[in-house]
Amino acid sequence: YLLGIDIGTSGTKTVLFDTDANTVSSKTCEYPLYQEQNGWAEQDPLDWWKATAEGIQYVITQSRVNPKDIKGIGLSGQMHGLVMLDSDGLPLRRSIIWCDQRTGKEVEDMNRLLTPEKLIDITANPALTGFTAAKILWVRKNEPEVYKQCAHILLPKDYIRYKLTGDFATEVSDASGMQLMDVSKRDWSDEVLDTLEINRGLLGKMYESPDITGQVHQGAAAETGLMAGTIVVGGAGDNPAAAIGTGIVSEGSAFTTIGTSGVVYAISDKVAIDKKGRVHTLCASVPGKWTVMSCTQGAGLSLQWLRNNVCSNEVAEAKEKGVDPYEIMTAMAAKVPVGADRLVYLPYLMGERSPHPDPDCRGTFFGLSAIHETKHLIRAVLEGVAYSQLECVDVFREMGVNINDMMICGGGARSDMWRQMFADMYQCPVSTIQAEQGGALGAAILAGIGAGVYKDLESTCKKLILKKSIQEPIKSNSMEYQKYYKLYKELYITLFDSY
Ligand code: XUL
Repeated sequence: YLLGIDIGTSGTKTVLFDTDANTVSSKTCEYPLYQEQNGWAEQDPLDWWKATAEGIQYVITQSRVNPKDIKGIGLSGQMHGLVMLDSDGLPLRRSIIWCDQRTGKEVEDMNRLLTPEKLIDITANPALTGFTAAKILWVRKNEPEVYKQCAHILLPKDYIRYKLTGDFATEVSDASGMQLMDVSKRDWSDEVLDTLEINRGLLGKMYESPDITGQVHQGAAAETGLMAGTIVVGGAGDNPAAAIGTGIVSEGSAFTTIGTSGVVYAISDKVAIDKKGRVHTLCASVPGKWTVMSCTQGAGLSLQWLRNNVCSNEVAEAKEKGVDPYEIMTAMAAKVPVGADRLVYLPYLMGERSPHPDPDCRGTFFGLSAIHETKHLIRAVLEGVAYSQLECVDVFREMGVNINDMMICGGGARSDMWRQMFADMYQCPVSTIQAEQGGALGAAILAGIGAGVYKDLESTCKKLILKKSIQEPIKSNSMEYQKYYKLYKELYITLFDSY
């Protein structure tokens, strides 16, 4: 057996797999997101650990698997979050997570100190509010007392590694989203660290994703039910982990994931950079490869917001029928024609990163009319999120990154109707995989490589990751969407100054 743990934004998903990638037992434990100010987003690392310990206990008890038969653990998690620990390993403050946008000034500081050209050259990305480096500078400037006590800086899943094994370690795929690495050399950049005056000793030891980074210690074994000594591998950021979980391990293939964020991700044999900084370049979770990746900050988040604030009737109906509210919501949207009767939604609830690195823009409904009902709002949100992915796919295509076939995963992949929308907009087939687990499965496969259960990523993914459904684009829909997509793109440009 192999264990995959994915520290998401809405909750932590712990999944026990057999070595044929079948789910044996799975548990998601949720926790809150704190938004004390407009554009801020924080979570408590202790909540992540509680959810992880509970999830592990659950899957071991429920499956009755002997913990000694768990051959390895892989970690996956939300990227870019800042965890600061004191010298006793205790969190000094809540984590400032990936979608937080408070660091506009620090991004200016980084550009002044390092120059935009050098940042792109070394870190492969322009200075971004969402990446970790700017968050570190924010804490140093605004909470000097906290910074003074800081002994360790970790990413979310690497904090869970510390809790499991006691090691301060990270791996290249997640660490490249900190903006402190030389991405082509796959290691920390002394030049960036020295210029920003961040002590290298604060950062974890760097590994490749399938490498073993440590073993579960006695204390963690007692808290979780795991066997002490079980190996933990590097794992990957949630998107690079989902890439493995959907079989995207070689150049020419790509996937879209719709979780809280929306991501399009493609593999590349070399470091491919968009000089305009509209999409990110990171080390892939496959040793020796890189990735081009986009991030829409408010994808599933937009639908969740609608569910929580507008769709109380649908939520009540779902409760009565014992179904998922999103099923009812997407069925309603299916009754509305393509284009939502000219209602267009821009998904910028938490500002945006791709293809517009802009912390100040916000969500917009455009063209609201008295004829519109809740079902139109839902359709407009589904379409707006999909347009945003299409805008990123267009950048990939402009960069010469070929996308002829797209895998899709994450909560958003569950809806037939939404998947069809992606196929129609991308104008290419969109496929799902049999296992729904994405990030957790990718992390478990990495654990299998580290443990010696599998030989190499490419042949393992070919064997284990099976396509389930394929949706082909419907030409008449594609043509209709093109008209509204044009309007969607123009709206951001028109509204830019007003944001
Ligand atoms: C990627 C990103 C998000 C988080 C969500 O750059 O910020 O996809 O990883 O968990």
